[in-house]
Amino acid sequence: MGLLKLLSADRSDNLFLPAHGRGNALPKKIKNLLKLRPGIWDLPELLEIGGPLISEGAIAESQKSSAYEVGVDRCWYGVNGATGLLQSSLLALARPGQAILMPRNIHKSCIQACLFGGLIPLLFDVPYLTDRGHPSVFDRKWLQRVFRKAKELEDDIAAVVLVNPTYQGYAANMESLIQEIHSHSLPVLVDEAHGAYLISQVRPDFPKSAISFGADLVVHSLHKSAPGLVQCAVLWSQGVRVDPFKIERSIELLQTSSPSSLLLASCESSIKELIDTKGLNKLKTRIEEAESLKDFLINKEVPLLENSDPLRIILHTSKFGLSGIEVDKRFIRKRIIGELAEPGTLTFCLGFSSHKGLGKRFVRTWNEILKPFGQQKPYFFKRPPFTIVSKPYKQCSYSWGSNFEKVNLQDAIGRISVEMVCPYPPGIPLLIPGEILDQARVDWLIEQKSFWPEQISDFVRVIS
Ligand SMILES: Cc1ncc(COP(=O)(O)O)c(C=O)c1O
Repeated sequence: MGLLKLLSADRSDNLFLPAHGRGNALPKKIKNLLKLRPGIWDLPELLEIGGPLISEGAIAESQKSSAYEVGVDRCWYGVNGATGLLQSSLLALARPGQAILMPRNIHKSCIQACLFGGLIPLLFDVPYLTDRGHPSVFDRKWLQRVFRKAKELEDDIAAVVLVNPTYQGYAANMESLIQEIHSHSLPVLVDEAHGAYLISQVRPDFPKSAISFGADLVVHSLHKSAPGLVQCAVLWSQGVRVDPFKIERSIELLQTSSPSSLLLASCESSIKELIDTKGLNKLKTRIEEAESLKDFLINKEVPLLENSDPLRIILHTSKFGLSGIEVDKRFIRKRIIGELAEPGTLTFCLGFSSHKGLGKRFVRTWNEILKPFGQQKPYFFKRPPFTIVSKPYKQCSYSWGSNFEKVNLQDAIGRISVEMVCPYPPGIPLLIPGEILDQARVDWLIEQKSFWPEQISDFVRVIS
């Protein structure tokens, strides 16, 4: 089927991102705009419109108003996803040769920024949930241990990046982590790609956005965790630790010179949806529906894992000895399309649209999947062989640009990778350019290959 046909084909249950659910939950003003003559909204940076980096015009006004409503100093809308704004943020935070401290479950976009920015990714280990194979959240004590080791390895650390919430919706106590980072006089960038909805503070029992704890920079993916069109994102900045001039020149370096006015309007309206009363009421209703769906599934003995994101459902497939990647294929056959298939789980994103009647179909499909296998033993995952903090053996960008050869994973011991090994989604690198492949890493990658057969190769490219 051609692309155009695929775009208009119906899919019954969209439990994948973008979170607007194939248009159902787009803000009303965007729906109305899209009903007008096709293309009427596709405008360049005209004087009255401006752009994210232009100080006059509708976009400048809109960014000012969003920043004011959210309670920060500045914000910039982005049309290249959280990816583009995370990368601009990293370039604003560090000079070539400086290190950025970041967790092992960092999104690949941050490693890419290190590649082209000449930055050193100082990667720290995070707790790991062996029953499902997920990186987890950590506390201040863990971060203090990370700092002690990081300072032994590197004396020029420019900033820290945190990822919160995780793709599956686990959330940490950000207040104490941000306090710890600031106590080292360092700025913190929070990749809140999956947590834009947290600015709504729609319920007091939900985690708060890192913005409310003084994070210097926070990036939201507005198509992942707000009802924005794909590619929409926003970068929020507050305080004096990061110079807005540096942010703007970095955005300019990476942003297209023709940002789409439709996407910028979608940035504005998806943020509004998280602040305005009407939008908040809709979100509350979605959350109530999601909670009763989760209760229904749990009552029917569907194995769900707990998380902090009301709109994400984690099906624990390894509890029944099944791979989430295989289970995903079977759900797709029944036209229930999830978001994140992993070796031990399958995560479904309910997004901002309604899914009435899904519960029964979900239970029926899960039971049909289980039937031929019977009750299999749960399986557990080995912890990744990462030390608490590590620095690539050779500079990341140097390694990436080096001459290379392709070798079998088994033959790669002692060699230095020029590539990133990174199943997508979730886009968390298992190996980055410049890292050395020791026996433990090779063994682990071979094991990972058995879990992600279609995503991890038998070969790796190493410096020749
Ligand atoms: C944690 C995290 N950060 C950033 C991104 C990039 O987001 P975007 O698709 O908006 O570029 C992703 C995408 O999966 C992600 O999972």
